[in-house]
Amino acid sequence: MKIAIIGAGYVGLVTGVCLADFGHDVVCIDKDQCRIDALNRGEIPIYEPGLADLVKANAGAGRLSFSVELRDAVAGAEVVFIAVGTPSRRGDGHADLTYVFAVAREVADAVDGFTVVVTKSTVPVGTGDEVARIIANTNPEADVAVVSNPEFLREGAAIEDFKRPDRIVVGIEEERARSVMNEVYRPLYLNQAPIMFTGRRTAELIKYAANAFLAMKITFINEVADLCEATGADVQQVARGIGLDNRIGSKFLHAGPGYGGSCFPKDTLALVKIGQDFESPMRLVETTVAINDQRKRAMARKVIASCGGDVRGKTIGVLGLTFKPNTDDMREAPSIDIIQGLMDKGAHVVAYDPQGMDSARELLPKEVDYADSAYEAAIDADALVLITEWNEFRSLDLGRLKLSMKSAVLVDLRNVYRYDEVARHGFAYASIGRHGDSRGTSEAQAAE
Ligand code: NAD
Ligand code: UGA
Repeated sequence: MKIAIIGAGYVGLVTGVCLADFGHDVVCIDKDQCRIDALNRGEIPIYEPGLADLVKANAGAGRLSFSVELRDAVAGAEVVFIAVGTPSRRGDGHADLTYVFAVAREVADAVDGFTVVVTKSTVPVGTGDEVARIIANTNPEADVAVVSNPEFLREGAAIEDFKRPDRIVVGIEEERARSVMNEVYRPLYLNQAPIMFTGRRTAELIKYAANAFLAMKITFINEVADLCEATGADVQQVARGIGLDNRIGSKFLHAGPGYGGSCFPKDTLALVKIGQDFESPMRLVETTVAINDQRKRAMARKVIASCGGDVRGKTIGVLGLTFKPNTDDMREAPSIDIIQGLMDKGAHVVAYDPQGMDSARELLPKEVDYADSAYEAAIDADALVLITEWNEFRSLDLGRLKLSMKSAVLVDLRNVYRYDEVARHGFAYASIGRHGDSRGTSEAQAAE
């Protein structure tokens, strides 16, 4: 099939390259000339494991190309995916649909023959109706079916998630779109990925409901972690104890510094706004947003408490800046609020991240210094804070770290280390929802 993808960001690029890998003929369009030039040189603008090899293989096989020229790509396509950003609109949290609607207008002028226009961007309920209206108004001759096909991939595992999805959701209003979408995803039938057809508005809501539910699950375990700290219980064992119940499930029960990223924060806000607009409030989601916002600053206070209540003039080494491992994405990363909170109290921050330092430099205060490794970030530090659980931070040489630090304090906001091993090296240690004397921690971790 001939497919055009508009927007070559995380979702557009991964969708384009995976569909090309399925054998389709794909053109990825982006208005950012630098991005397209880089892709045409074989350079990948984002860090996503496995993406570079897949782009190279499919571009080399002639199934994948990149361009800024939307018109020809759309005219030649049977299916056009819209995968542009839908950030939070300033002020009210509503999804900003400017980019989606701009693409709809451009696509309307360019389509040639029956074309299925698929919204892959995460958009509020009713956006598909508006896209269909825009296309009809812009070009009354356009023969299109507008479909919603939300994306559920995670950054850092994007290719695996796209190729082995738990489900594919397709919202259609016209029967003739069904066979086209079945054809797009036919290669995935081999993996037995369930494809679920719904109405367009339902598909749009499924995406927000999924993200909000996952954000709520994380927020729930984060609050349980606080209660564990207050009561002497152990959050990892609580998570395991509830997660083994199949009705609850063990995923997304890792307590941490609060969720971040390009999607949970903006999508929870957007769902709150959708609820308000339809006078059907999403109170659990409203509370989730508020708790998560407060949590990031609370993490800075936790670090300060571990440093004896005062960080003025002290040096804090920070390990991990991106919102999760295996990405260079810094959008809404908890590290931003935590570092700001520490600097507001007079700390000097030296940070290290395996992939995120270029993006971090644009977002963090200019006074932050950067190290080339975890060990360099620890030199003369009064405390070390682990914010993102990159694999390379999982088995650091604690003895070596201690020797280079001014004082041996480790604040582990991802519960990567065990109390006994950190204590053995003479560190003062703080983590999330755990206690030094809680029995069974090691067994629970070993079983994970
Ligand atoms: P992104 O910011 O990485 O990429 C968007 C791209 O669209 C940019 O490269 C931009 O230049 C391009 N663009 C904007 N307007 C354009 C136009 N008129 N013509 C051509 N290109 C244009 O965004 P993203 O993270 O890929 O997210 C895209 C959508 O997918 C969002 O709605 C997001 O919520 C959703 N989503 C993202 C993820 C994720 O992991 N990032 C996962 C699932 C869903
Ligand atoms: C999330 C969803 O998992 C995807 O299904 C969805 O497609 C995507 O948002 C989107 O709509 O963009 P992503 O943001 O890439 O994916 O990453 P997650 O793995 O979900 O992590 C999000 C945040 O939650 C991170 O800050 C992570 O550290 C945090 N998290 C996750 C926890 O604190 N605990 C957990 O147990 C899981």
